[in-house]
Amino acid sequence: MTPRDAGADAAWADLPSPCYVIDEAALERNLAVIERLQEETGARVLLALKGFAAWALFPRMRRVLRGVAASSLNEARLGREFGGEVHVCAPAYRDDEFDELVKLCDHVTFNSLGQWHRFRERLTDVQTGLRINPKHSEVRVALYDPCAPSSRLGVTSAECAAQSLDGIEGMHLHTLCGLGADALERTLDVTERRFGRWLGRLRWVNLGGGHRLTAPGYDLARLTSLIERWRCRFDVDILLEPGEAVAFECGVLVTTVLDVVHRDPDVAILDTSASAHMPDVLEMPYRPPVTGSGEPGEKPHLYRLAGVTCLAGDVIGDYAFDEPLRPGDRVVFEDMAHYTMVKNTTFNGVGLPAIAVRDAATGATRVVRQFGYEDYRGRLS
Ligand SMILES: Cc1ncc(COP(=O)(O)O)c(C=O)c1O
Repeated sequence: MTPRDAGADAAWADLPSPCYVIDEAALERNLAVIERLQEETGARVLLALKGFAAWALFPRMRRVLRGVAASSLNEARLGREFGGEVHVCAPAYRDDEFDELVKLCDHVTFNSLGQWHRFRERLTDVQTGLRINPKHSEVRVALYDPCAPSSRLGVTSAECAAQSLDGIEGMHLHTLCGLGADALERTLDVTERRFGRWLGRLRWVNLGGGHRLTAPGYDLARLTSLIERWRCRFDVDILLEPGEAVAFECGVLVTTVLDVVHRDPDVAILDTSASAHMPDVLEMPYRPPVTGSGEPGEKPHLYRLAGVTCLAGDVIGDYAFDEPLRPGDRVVFEDMAHYTMVKNTTFNGVGLPAIAVRDAATGATRVVRQFGYEDYRGRLS
């Protein structure tokens, strides 16, 4: 939901705060793009649960997405509830979970040859893949770059060359983060040079996530031709597993001003937290859009929006508004559906935001989940 959605503000006033509001109509727009891509290329698109796991919307997403990409036993279990194919890929698997994990999955991808050898005898009725690392960085922030120096993510071509890959049916490649088809093209060129000799022997290649394919300006024609090129050249099925692109601009975080502290600039303390409710703001770092606000200097009333935890740096950023902010005012952060919901915590005992869904057909917003003391206490002992 974005400021473009007239009428949303009135609905926000009645919501609990803080509250994530997922916009079903925006999700449908993204799913339509993905559906077309699947039709035009024959590629299968999975939902990366690590990025968006709002199970209230599984039935709607399942109409388009072929299944899920999981990164743990818990996500694989949730993936079975989604329906369709369950693919798992994690930096390492636990011995005590592996047999249960295999039963839940259709594809199991190993991050190292050591893990493959350790577990290969315990694989039953699944397709086996290897995550590869083409050693080609496109992501500028090291924290998010799977190809950063000494990265633990994926097997290098030198490691592959040192032994037989008989039994490996697919390769998995995840090296991007919020990037365009140009970044994918450069990555695929390098990958082909380094891993070309194995690609033609596979059944499938998974191009991972990190593709901003539902964002305005994304070059879908280029993505389509890259998929077709690889599908024909190597005679493989192509899979994609986006998280962000599925839920891109599909939801907001509605929050409330609790206090205004007079500093330079004035600080509005909200009932949310960058640290607990939107950690990527601090990690990336980035400045999320706030409905109705501008950059400092663009509007007369400047505030530093800050969180309610003890962390001194629990600050979201500086925003300018038309009117002064007062306790009780709503502040709405945009594009908060992906990653923020799955990563939130109860640091400082701060309550988790409620979850609401705005219905695509009626425009009505209904709260589907609220959290309380037991959710906080239940994580501890
Ligand atoms: C292996 C893997 N697949 C898929 C994704 C989803 O990426 P995104 O949400 O950027 O599309 C990630 C994200 O970190 C990942 O690590």
